Amino acid sequence: MKTATDTHADVRTAPSAASTFTSSAPVRVTVVVGSNRTGRFGPVVAEWLLGRVREHDDFEVDVVDVAETDLPTTFAPTPEVTAQLAEITPKLATAEAFVVLTPEYNHSYPAALKNLIDWHFHEWRAKPVALVSYGGLSGGLRAVEHLRQVFAELHATTVRDTVSFHQAHASFDDMGHLKEPSAPTAAAKVMLDQLAWWGRALREAKERRPYGG
Ligand SMILES: Cc1cc2nc3c(=O)[nH]c(=O)nc-3n(C[C@H](O)[C@H](O)[C@H](O)COP(=O)(O)O)c2cc1C
Repeated sequence: MKTATDTHADVRTAPSAASTFTSSAPVRVTVVVGSNRTGRFGPVVAEWLLGRVREHDDFEVDVVDVAETDLPTTFAPTPEVTAQLAEITPKLATAEAFVVLTPEYNHSYPAALKNLIDWHFHEWRAKPVALVSYGGLSGGLRAVEHLRQVFAELHATTVRDTVSFHQAHASFDDMGHLKEPSAPTAAAKVMLDQLAWWGRALREAKERRPYGG
């Protein structure tokens, strides 16, 4: 049984116990670029997004681009696949958080992105995912809502706020710069602040107790 003295001792020792956690270190985030279509617009949005992530103080950034992968949908464990996964999987495994960039294809997200997600399991587990989308009228919002369901199955938590580009092609100039950057930049800051909070919160939680779900 705990006495009042014990309780006070717990309170006194709490700061030093907390100091053993690494919560102030940058959150390792991997940005996943989700389209591989020939002639895709994705890199334009990705460049803008990477700028926002890199200028945010809380992150150390890596990138996985599905266009640089050629994973089969058969899940055949060939030597070629093993070699490819050796490039990709560590960037997902070491990440503490993700930003997934998706266009909308037929009211959902691209098959290549789903394939990359499905080739992995533990790598997504107990980590936060921020979602950035682009498309035509919908701005990719339906793709985002589908991805929330997928990541819930993988024990990942999607953050509430997103950034979406409606009529994306018309939102950027020929140099790839946003014509009106203020609203998307502000939205990105809100989303990335949430991602950093979740990244640190889940880091601390996992240091205390491994995820058991
Ligand atoms: C197969 C296909 C389906 C699409 N379906 C939608 C859609 O349902 N809603 C939408 O807003 N835009 C849709 N679009 C427009 C794309 O979101 C837009 O062209 C975007 O730039 C595609 O990303 P990417 O250029 O990186 O491939 C579709 C485009 C393609 C190629």
